[in-house]
Amino acid sequence: MPGTPGYAFDNTSEHAGGRFDALETCYDPVTFARLADLGVAAGTRCLEVGAGGGSVAGWLADRVGPSGSVLATDLEPRWMDGLPERPNLRVVRHDISKEDLPEGGFDLVHARLVLLHVPERLAALDRLVRALRPGGRLVLDEFDCGWISVLAAPTPEAAALFERTHDAVMTVVSRAGADIHWGLRTYGALRAAGLTDVASVTYAESWTGGSPGTQLHQVNIRQLAERLLGEGLTPDRLERCLRLLDDPAFAVSSYPLITTWGTRP
Ligand SMILES: C[S@@+](CC[C@H](N)C(=O)[O-])C[C@H]1O[C@@H](n2cnc3c(N)ncnc32)[C@H](O)[C@@H]1O
Repeated sequence: MPGTPGYAFDNTSEHAGGRFDALETCYDPVTFARLADLGVAAGTRCLEVGAGGGSVAGWLADRVGPSGSVLATDLEPRWMDGLPERPNLRVVRHDISKEDLPEGGFDLVHARLVLLHVPERLAALDRLVRALRPGGRLVLDEFDCGWISVLAAPTPEAAALFERTHDAVMTVVSRAGADIHWGLRTYGALRAAGLTDVASVTYAESWTGGSPGTQLHQVNIRQLAERLLGEGLTPDRLERCLRLLDDPAFAVSSYPLITTWGTRP
């Protein structure tokens, strides 16, 4: 149900597909390079949690080959219905905030932009850790949504309009239980969960108006439009902000993708 605590951008919305397209274009190359660097290879048994449109799950399945396997989960997995059939890829509906996972059998557990949205994220993290075999690795890709700055705008008013709208988006997702700074807390959380060799790396870039990155902002604003009106914005201001996000004179820093990983002893 839209607005249910736990996930502000529920996948039953028509807007979810646009969100996955934007995330995949902006961040798949970063995620794939990192997972390859961290040793995902033929034979790796993988768990991909909150898999969304399934691009990472599909890439993992191709990479680990017939001797490996991928279990892809999501609270609402309908956007993975169109994935090409692969014998080593299984998709299941699963709520990481409430439901247990098979324990001790995965070499890799990965989730991108999922625990940020899960109010019970520490309990969910514990499940992810227990799903690993000893020596297996957890990799989390998360945002720090506080680190986002307007880099260029046609007018100072336009910059202020984006900032005001983005603040309202953050208020709405926080009300639903998101921790918008979770990306920065992930490192400490992985250590506290008992993982060893914890490390992290951050990726950020500029997003120009009309690019896949600013389309991510547009899709988020469109999906939350009704709730943004409840935060004091008007339909006219939302419309102007959506147009600004198409304007090449506008640029904003991307959400920084903070990738943090650790090993189960
Ligand atoms: C921002 S999207 C990211 C999708 C994908 N990981 C990606 O990066 O392209 C968050 C995904 O997490 C899923 N999700 C949210 N809460 C969840 C939960 N409690 N259990 C499982 N999946 C969840 C959503 O349904 C959505 O598909």
